Amino acid sequence: MSSITLDLFADHEPEQQPKREQIAEQSWVLRGFVLPWLERLLPELDAVLAAAPFRQMVTPGGFTMSAALSSCGTWGWTTDRSGYHYSRQDPASGKPWPPMPEVFLHLAQAAALEAGFAGFVPDSCLINRYPPGAKMSLHQDKDETSMAAPIVSVSLGLPAVFLFGGFERGDKCQRVSLFHGDVVVWGGVDRLRYHGVLPIKDGQHPRLGEQRINFTFRAAR
Ligand code: SIN
Ligand code: FE2
Repeated sequence: MSSITLDLFADHEPEQQPKREQIAEQSWVLRGFVLPWLERLLPELDAVLAAAPFRQMVTPGGFTMSAALSSCGTWGWTTDRSGYHYSRQDPASGKPWPPMPEVFLHLAQAAALEAGFAGFVPDSCLINRYPPGAKMSLHQDKDETSMAAPIVSVSLGLPAVFLFGGFERGDKCQRVSLFHGDVVVWGGVDRLRYHGVLPIKDGQHPRLGEQRINFTFRAAR
């Protein structure tokens, strides 16, 4: 191999071969998968959040979630004292959720395909904002009508430790560090695994500041 070829590989190999880490039978971490999409994604995110700003929601048990939430797509996931719901309307405005931007849809479909799930058509994208200290307790995503579609989860901004567990709350969890641009996809036999996020550490992300933003794409209905 000539030194020119070697230099080319040195420059380009990391971006051309994104790392795919298997964390369970049908669960993958796609390292840096979002990075090439970012410049198209962030302006659309701003537009969605202008129409449906982040808000803190209360769980049925009466606790205010530390992460703030918004949604786009046909269905938005919400929680209040009466339970967990998918609703067509943003309860804060009474208006339909902003439509899912095309680039969101295409990113989710590309990530699902990379993890072995062809034909993913999400109709809901929950957007979570975690300031430092915010967390997400262990839970299963089980408010969707069908479990046939995977969950596609995008991480932006400050890093997080993602807990990826088993099918019982008390099962041992893997701790997976997630960084800006990573995607986790779980589905099939792993679709109902418990998962959560440890409290976000203080920090300043060069692009997104003092926060972590997560999207989870779902087929809700
Ligand atoms: C979620 O399960 O809704 C969020 C997961 C994450 O923030 O990584
Ligand atoms: Fe979840």
